[in-house]
Formats: sequence, C-alpha cells, structure tokens
Amino acid sequence: MNAPKIAGQSAWYLKRQLMNYKKGIRGTQEGDVYGAQMIGMAATLVDEQAVDNVVAHILTFPDNAVASTIEGDVASGQKYYNVCAYCHGGDGMGIQAMNAPRAAGMSDWYMARQLQNFKDDIRGGHPQDYNGKQMGFMADNLHDEQAIQDVIAYINTL
Ligand code: HEC
Repeated sequence: MNAPKIAGQSAWYLKRQLMNYKKGIRGTQEGDVYGAQMIGMAATLVDEQAVDNVVAHILTFPDNAVASTIEGDVASGQKYYNVCAYCHGGDGMGIQAMNAPRAAGMSDWYMARQLQNFKDDIRGGHPQDYNGKQMGFMADNLHDEQAIQDVIAYINTL
C-alpha cells in the first residue's frame, strides 16, 4: 500500500502533516505520486477538529515494531547521523522544539523515499513548507543513494 507506520509518531507532527495535505502544502509537488493520494484522504477530515480527533485515535494504536528493509554501512551512517541528531535527537525520537519528527522505529523504506523526495524537491518545495525546506537542505548533504541507505541503516539501530 506504500503507507508507512504512523503508530508511535508524535501527535504534533501527524497533525502538521495532515494539515499540510489539507492546505495543499504537501503532496502537490510534481512527481509526488503517494503524497497526492494523501490529499484526498486528508480532505475527508473536514476541519481541524476532525484532524485532532483522528490523531487522538492514532495515539491509541500499539507502537508495534516494524521489520527493517534497508541495509547499509552502519558506521558510515552514524557519521551522517551526527548532523541529524541535532534536530531528530541522538535517540532518533524527534524533538518538537526543532519541528523534527521521530525517525527511530519508523518505516525505513518510507524514510528513504522521503529523503530522496526532499533531495528531488518533490517534498519541501512548496513556498509555505518551511519545515520541509529546512529538511531539504539537510537531505542535500546525503550525496547519493548509498548515503541514504547508510544513514537509514544507522537509524535502524536506534
Ligand atoms: C535542522 C533540523 C534538521 C536536521 C539537522 C535534520 N532534519 Fe530531518 N526533518 C527536520 C524537520 C523539521 C522535518 C519535518 C519536515 C516536515 O514538516 O515536512 C524532518 C523530516 C525528516 C524526515 C521525514 C520523516 C517523515 O516521517 O516524513 C526524515 C526521514 C528525516 N527528517 C531524516 C533526517 C536525516 C536522515 C537527517 C540527517 C542527514 C536529518 N533528517 C536532519 C529537521 C531536521
């Protein structure tokens, strides 16, 4: 289904993403096939209250572990992650004050796709997507697919 794990993700981040889909800030960039699918889904949440309600419901889901699907050089990935830790936390659990979501224990194939999307400006390219743009600059430091695999392989150890 191409749908990532959302249980265990922070409420503030889920809400912001759903609101971004609703406002056309996310999922509207050319080439964002899966993001575009989410626009229709988010539109069924008629207002902010509906978004709050669905996020409250997601918070009741058990935070079950997901299988790792990405392999890479963990030692190399750890070096890349030194920068990421500043916003996502050394434990990968996210830091709300930095607007950075949890990465540890989330769907690795999805994070790899998001990193590629940020690099390709498929995500974070909307003029009002300040957080996405910030992350876009960070993803640009991952120079190739191997770097993405490596940093995700390290996140999988957190
Ligand atoms: C300056 C702060 C900052 C740094 C450093 C940073 N990020 Fe992020 N990251 C963010 C923010 C903010 C978001 C949320 C973007 C949004 O709201 O769409 C994000 C989103 C992400 C996402 C998308 C998660 C999801 O569920 O959609 C991934 C994956 C990610 N970051 C990985 C990384 C990796 C790997 C690094 C290091 C190479 C890194 N980040 C460095 C701030 C940062």
